[in-house]
Parts: sequence; structure tokens; C-alpha cells
Amino acid sequence: MGLFWKRAVVVASWSAALSSVDAKGKTAYDYVNPLIGTINGGHVFPGATLPFGMAKAGPDVIGENQGGFASDDSPIMGFSHMHDSGTGGSPSLGNFPIFPHAGCPNDDVNACAYDMGKRAALRVPGSVSARPGYFDITLDSQIRTEMTVTSHVALYRFTFKEPPATLNTPFSPLVLLDLADLPNTRSTGALAVDSATGRITGEGSFSPSFGVGNYTSYFCADFNGAELRDAGVWANGFAGLNKTLSVNTLDNGGAWVRFKAPAKGNQIQARVGMSFVSSAQACSNAEREIPNYNFGSVLKAAENAWKEKLNVIAIESGGVSEVLLKAFWSGVYRSMISPQDYTGENPVWTSTEPYYDSYYCIWDSFRSIHPLLTLVDPGSQTKMVRSLIDIYRHEGKLPDCRMSFCKGFTQGGSNADIVLADAYLKNLSSGIDWNVGYEAMVSDAEVELPDWEVEGRGGLDAWKTINYIPKQEGADTRSVSRTIEYAYNDFAIALIAKRLGHEDDYQKYLKRSGNWKSVFKADQTSAINGVDTGYVGFFQPKWANGTWAEQDPIRCSPLKEFTSCYLNPSGGEAYEGPLFMYTFFVPGDMKSLITTLGGKEAFVKRLNFLHESGLLYMGDEQGFLKVFLYHYAGRPGLSSARARSYIPSQFNDTVGGIPGNDDSGAMGSFEALTMMGIFPNAGQDVYFITPPFFESVSIVSGQTGRTATIRNLNFDGGKNVFVQKATLDGRPYTRNWLQHTFFTEGGVLELTLGPEESSWGTTPDDVPPSLGPFVPGA
Ligand SMILES: *[C@@H]1O[C@H](CO)[C@@H](O)[C@H](O)[C@H]1NC(C)=O
Ligand SMILES: *[C@@H]1O[C@H](CO)[C@@H](O)[C@H](O)[C@H]1NC(C)=O
Ligand SMILES: *[C@@H]1O[C@H](CO)[C@@H](O)[C@H](O)[C@H]1NC(C)=O
Ligand SMILES: *[C@@H]1O[C@H](CO)[C@@H](O)[C@H](O)[C@H]1NC(C)=O
Ligand SMILES: *[C@@H]1O[C@H](CO)[C@@H](O)[C@H](O)[C@H]1NC(C)=O
Repeated sequence: MGLFWKRAVVVASWSAALSSVDAKGKTAYDYVNPLIGTINGGHVFPGATLPFGMAKAGPDVIGENQGGFASDDSPIMGFSHMHDSGTGGSPSLGNFPIFPHAGCPNDDVNACAYDMGKRAALRVPGSVSARPGYFDITLDSQIRTEMTVTSHVALYRFTFKEPPATLNTPFSPLVLLDLADLPNTRSTGALAVDSATGRITGEGSFSPSFGVGNYTSYFCADFNGAELRDAGVWANGFAGLNKTLSVNTLDNGGAWVRFKAPAKGNQIQARVGMSFVSSAQACSNAEREIPNYNFGSVLKAAENAWKEKLNVIAIESGGVSEVLLKAFWSGVYRSMISPQDYTGENPVWTSTEPYYDSYYCIWDSFRSIHPLLTLVDPGSQTKMVRSLIDIYRHEGKLPDCRMSFCKGFTQGGSNADIVLADAYLKNLSSGIDWNVGYEAMVSDAEVELPDWEVEGRGGLDAWKTINYIPKQEGADTRSVSRTIEYAYNDFAIALIAKRLGHEDDYQKYLKRSGNWKSVFKADQTSAINGVDTGYVGFFQPKWANGTWAEQDPIRCSPLKEFTSCYLNPSGGEAYEGPLFMYTFFVPGDMKSLITTLGGKEAFVKRLNFLHESGLLYMGDEQGFLKVFLYHYAGRPGLSSARARSYIPSQFNDTVGGIPGNDDSGAMGSFEALTMMGIFPNAGQDVYFITPPFFESVSIVSGQTGRTATIRNLNFDGGKNVFVQKATLDGRPYTRNWLQHTFFTEGGVLELTLGPEESSWGTTPDDVPPSLGPFVPGA
């Protein structure tokens, strides 16, 4: 009975959140701007998608097209049906773009432009608008294209304008389809067009954008709204009436369908079903999900899917600016674009488990995307964990990066270990086989495969014997960043081992989690432009024989050779960041690190220097945790102030409003968690308390249905950003961190704010847990 009663309350509070409209009459959905991060390297996909949907319909530019579209004035070369969002490397997916013409000059199909470069058209300035599930753009051909989606199907609505008589182009719309992808990787491809119905079906083989191997993708395009005139194929710029086409690497080609002038509203719709299994499945996806071309009802369903996801969170803004509201809700939104749910579309193995793809990459997403999903969408996060474990079952390792059914490149450690530990400690369970999950993690720590660049870890012999990854003669191995990531991966394994009762493993991995100590060089100095920083003691590379090698602690920071430390041959010993920054990465044992770096005061001073000297780039996910490390030194107020130094100055509501690649929503998840005041230490049951950027934040737990609320008292949206005292459900609360039970059990945390730091959360008993002091040299 008690349980039923609680359920009833839950449902009531959830639907209350669902209909929450603020004083301006707006809901969460209204504050999302999908165009944030679509210029200056954000690479966000702003088109139409469902939460974690496979179909992602959007325009593709010739230019900065990693996410398809860019908010600049680059030309649009087509509309394609699948994308990845926020990738750092090359563009991804964008297979089989379609493109409309209102007619062909002289009514000659051969006179229409087919090749990408020739057909591309500029947009009408100001014609772009986007909201979750919908995108709208008009090209200078005056053709307006609106798009929306279901899970596997893109639906486009073209509104044509009759071409002016002077052009000698009779109004007879032609839509072409191109057997291409965004990064131009197609090898073989083939299609067929049905001259009776206009249906185009086909396939192509492509390469993944940050990985190895290849994948085959299938489509099924149908049209509605006008009478078909004729149809055919085109290749290398020429169109003819053939009905089938096969292409190889060097060919351009595709199909076209031509219509009489539309009967009604000058509109033609294109429905493109996608599949990784077969074109027959692409067609059945299309017919099942969009049987009747009702654009309005497909869009409505997409809107509702997003509203349901967003409305798990409710905020009372306390009158803050719309900049913050838009940045926040857009951040939550972008965290739910990827990974994509490809369940039922896996051509590689047969399984009853869910299959998600585009973990792009876990090195980026483990820190905040997955912990955010655990909070706001534990159902999806649970399925993702199951899919990760299933990838281990069938391919032998958990991925560190994966897209389009291919293994992606590993950047540092085996960070899926952290995703699993985080989910385990937060009680995600339904259908997850934690024994196999644990086995997968242990495999990362114990079994090295030949190609460790795409799976598992490399250098495990050294890891087990000399306790670090050595620098190698003639090879840049990212040896230091891998060492400290492996150490934290082992820490995550230890935490699960303990809970599962594997005491020997617990001891073993706990010990290995201290391997970061092997690369701490106590007398290493650092200088910026030849001026000594005064900070001594950094992680440094070491040869296998124990002799130190040296890498300038500021190399790979914005102050020195910033863009030189990727997977490139001369990338050095720390991936995408300076050793000055990596020296702060010991998330499982901050207490020891603080001792190692000279105690709390010295630590805080050095951390301030990291943030204020120009050494730290917040456009890379590694920066996120650095904002909150003050908590471990008993200075939670400094974390709060630091967070506000980045939001909104670097994370805001403009189209350029994120400082780096969104990496599948990582920047968005940082904004969301930081503004809610509960940034997590991923892989542990720890959330750092900082005052939310709003008067209050409530989250309904998808695990229990209970509601947790964090409320700021004395909130002024300005100077009052320091907690003076706190109560949890009315009782004094002095810890500066929360555990996940706060969210699953529900409750109210009240933070009384003031304009100066206070003694709240400052004692050794108040700070989050750590392993314990490490004395260098001991
Ligand atoms: C695609 O991958 C398969 C399996 O790894 C391989 O046999 C085939 O040669 C590859 N094809 C191309 C075009 O790279
Ligand atoms: C049409 O098909 C014929 C026979 O397969 C081929 O020779 C010709 O090149 C094709 N034309 C086009 C435009 O693909
Ligand atoms: C250790 O190895 C490095 C690199 O091969 C070499 O430069 C160094 O002299 C060696 N140290 C000793 C003590 O042999
Ligand atoms: C918004 O964020 C971008 C990216 O970090 C930054 O360049 C810009 O200055 C910010 N704009 C405002 C108005 O704060
Ligand atoms: C997880 O479940 C256990 C057993 O039901 C419970 O004691 C614990 O509080 C739960 N933890 C969280 C974070 O919900």
C-alpha cells in the first residue's frame, strides 16, 4: 500500500513537471536552441532527431560540415538522413543526400546540376530555424525545406516556387539522390529507381570517421505530393533514363525523380527510411514509422518525445537571464542526441540485447554525458551499459570509441570501465549482467590485444611489472596520460570488485590505481616564456629503465604547441593537454595528490594558476573536473565562483556558444550539470555541491519516481554564489558533496547563499572521499 501511495505521488509530480510553464509562458522545450555550437568548431548537429534517434535529418554544407550544417554562409549541397554531433575529427555519416530543383533548364534532365559542387546553393539569410525534432531552411533557389523524423526515417517537405519565366525552366520539380557521404569515403554503391512509383532503393559502403574498417548503409526513398513524370539515374554529371546504377570509388552518381507541378501548395514530400541491414528493411522502417506522410503528426510526436525527456527536470529560474535558460536547456537537449539507438539494425551479430552506436568517444563522454543520463534518463543509460557489455561479448573488448559498427580510436585509457563503474555504483541494474560487465573491465586491465589503438589497453606487461607506461624510443606513446588514465580505470575496477565481493581483486586494483605515483617527478619545474612559474613537481615521462625523460609541462596547452598533441606521430607523452593539467588528474585519490603537491594552500594556488594563466582550455572535456577540485581542498566556494567564470562567458546561447567540439553533447552535459550545481566525479558516487544557477532545480528520478530538489535561499542571480549553510530535509548538512541516494530517495537540499566564502563544507570530514595520503618517496 505504502508503495502504491508513493507511486501515485510520483505520477502526480511528474505530470506537474510535464506541464510546467514559466512566467513568460515558456516551457523547457521552448528554450532549446539546436543551433548553439554550429560555428567555430562546435560541430553540433542542429537538424531534426529524436532522443538517441538513428535518423538525423539535416542540411549539409560544403565547408565546416562535421555535424552537417554550419551557421555561416557556406553553400548547402544536400539534405542527409544520419549524422553524428560534435565530432572533433572528420565529418561523419551524411549518407545519400537528396537535393531538390524546381525544374531543369529547357525541361532537359541533363541540364540540371547533379554533382555536389555544381548543385550546391546558398541559403536565404535569416531563413534558418530549428527546434527539437524540426529544422527549416530556404535556399536561394527559393525552395523551402522543412524536416522532421521518426526513429529510422527522415521526412522532408519541400515547398517550391515556380521559376520565373525568364529562366526558361518549366516548373517540374526534380529531386536527386547522391550515393555519397560527408567525408567522401564511399567505395562501392548501387541503387535502383522504380519508374512507376518513384521509389529509390540502394546501398553504399563507407568508412567510419574516426576508426577502422567499413560499414554498409541502406536507404529507401519515396515521394508524395505530385504526379511522377519520369525517373532515372545520373553518373558523373550526366543523367539518363536507366533505372539501375552501380558505382565504384571514383564515380559520382545517384538517381533522380521528376514530377509534374504539385497539385497543392507547391509541396512535395520525401520520406527516406534508413537501415544497416538491407534496403528492404529501410523500406519497412519507412512504411511502418511514417505510413501516411502526415508531416504535422510526425513532428508532433517528435516534439512530445523531447518534452518527455526534458520535463524530468524542473527549474525555478529566479529571474535569471534567458541566456542561462537557453544555454541550460540546450545543453540538456544536446546530451540526448547520441549515442544512437540502432537496436534491430545490427548487421554484425545477432542478439536480444540493445545496440547503441556512436560512442563518439567515451574518452569525452565518460566525464559528464553518461553521469547526466544516469540522473535524467536512467532507462536509456541502462540500455547503453547493456549494449557496451554486449559489444564486449561479441567483439572481445569494451569500446573506447565506436561509430557506424566500427572500432574507433582509443585516446587514453579504457574509460568504458568508468562508465560501467558509475552506473553500477548508482544502482543501474535492470537487465545488466554485472558479472559479464566486471569480466569486461578485468579484461581491459589484464588482456592486451595486438591493436590496442582501437581496443583495450596497451603496454600491460609494463603496467603490471614496472607500474607505469614507459616512454618508448622513436615512438610518441602518450605514455604519461595513459598511465594516469589506466590508474583511474583500475580504481573504478577496484570499486566494483569491492561491491561484488572480489576482495583479492579489490586489493590488486586499488594498488595499481596508485601507479600515477610512478610518473610524479618531484623536482620537475615549469616555465612560461622562460619565466619560472614557481610550481615544482609534475607528472613526467619515464623510460622503461627508470630514467626520466622530459616533456615541457606546458607543451600542448594553449600557450605552447596547442594543436600538436593528438594521435599524431609527434604528439608526445600527453594527449590533448599539458602535463601541467594532467598533474591534477587523480580523481580517486585527491587527498594524496593534494599532499603530493604541497598541501591544500599550495594546491589551491596551483589550481588557480591552471585556470588563470591561459594553460587550461575549457573546450576540451579534461577541463571540466578541474573546475570542482577545490572541493577536495575544503574550498567549495571557489568551485562555485570558478564555474561562473566559464558560464556564460564561454558557454552561452549564441550559435558559437561553446568553446570546443561538442563531442556528442559533452559540452552540453557540462553546462547542464554545472548549472544544476551537481557536477559528478565520474566513476564514483560523488556529486560536488555548488549553488545552482537558478533559484531551484528539481529532478524526478527515473529509478524510483521520487523528486529531489535543490533550492537556493538568498538567491540574487549575482553576487550570492557562496553556500553559508545547508540543510537536507530540514537537518543541517555540512558535507560539500552528495551521493546518488539523494536523487533516488528524493528530498530537499536547501542552500543559504551569501557573497563571501564561509566555513560550510570546509573541514576534512566535509570533503568527498579519497584513498588517503601518499607521501612522495615513502
Ligand atoms: C570492408 O571490411 C571487410 C571486413 O573487414 C573487408 O573484408 C573488406 O575488404 C572491406 N572493404 C573495403 C572496401 O574496405
Ligand atoms: C545505361 O545502361 C547502359 C547499359 O548498362 C550503360 O552502357 C550506360 O552507360 C548507362 N547510362 C548511364 C547514364 O548510366
Ligand atoms: C635509459 O634509457 C634511455 C633511453 O633509451 C637512455 O637514454 C638512458 O641513458 C638509459 N638510462 C640508463 C641508466 O641506462
Ligand atoms: C559565448 O561563448 C563563446 C564560445 O566560448 C565565446 O567566444 C563568446 O565570447 C561568448 N559570448 C558571450 C556574449 O559571452
Ligand atoms: C542501491 O540499492 C541498495 C539496495 O537496494 C540500497 O541500499 C542503496 O541505497 C541504493 N543506492 C542508490 C544510490 O540508490
